[in-house]
Amino acid sequence: GMVVAVVPAAGAGTRLGGERPKQFLPLAGRPLLTRTLMVLEATPQVQAVVVVCPPGAEDETWRACVEPYGLAKVAAVVPGGAQRQDSVAAGVARAARLGAEWLVVHDAARPLARPELFARVLAAAAQTGAAIAAVPAADTIKQAGEGDLAQSTLDRSQLWLVQTPQVFRRDLLERALAQATADGFYATDEAGLVERMGEKVKLVMGSRDNLKITTPEDLALAQGIMGPAMR
Ligand code: CTP
Ligand code: MG
Repeated sequence: GMVVAVVPAAGAGTRLGGERPKQFLPLAGRPLLTRTLMVLEATPQVQAVVVVCPPGAEDETWRACVEPYGLAKVAAVVPGGAQRQDSVAAGVARAARLGAEWLVVHDAARPLARPELFARVLAAAAQTGAAIAAVPAADTIKQAGEGDLAQSTLDRSQLWLVQTPQVFRRDLLERALAQATADGFYATDEAGLVERMGEKVKLVMGSRDNLKITTPEDLALAQGIMGPAMR
């Protein structure tokens, strides 16, 4: 079936605090969003890409991040919404019109995911209907209470840190998004919506260098991981 990637790139980048949203800031001389789209371009299983940008920024996103770089798979740039989930829903609606059977949701802010990771997550999703990249927690994770006092220590052996790509059979994600909207439920990832319907979501070993650019130091880290050849 046809595989379409939906790239949410409609956030404000508040935690990074740049002059523009982080997806438009340069990483090794090209916009972060472009770096992420280049990975999808190099992933043979992905046939088309829908980019979701801040409302009103469609033309500029196309001109600055897509057109100059020969990204032939980008089929559409559509406006997103206030919450990530709204942005993903907008991208999913467009991907459905392209005939997608499988949806690959991948953050614009994760430019270091490799094509082989997409291949493995897609293969796992073919078995279960949904699969996501994640890595076992390396650090101990505590729940904080009032005044940043440690309240409890979670059992690290059962904790995974969730990444993207997240892959879903199209009808499954559409149903999960519709149900969440009806219930006024918001999750920080799409898999959370699928889980709450009691559906299987397979965790696939991601890579610790598939970091999400969130704070200013992450930009420098990403430069370092990309290596001198790319700088
Ligand atoms: N995103 C989106 N629409 C939103 C919010 C987020 O498409 N309304 C996208 C971001 O552009 C990013 C991805 O979802 O590619 C992951 O979100 P996050 O890292 O939180 O990015 P921002 O929301 O932009 O950053 P912040 O939370 O610091 O404002
Ligand atoms: Mg955010």
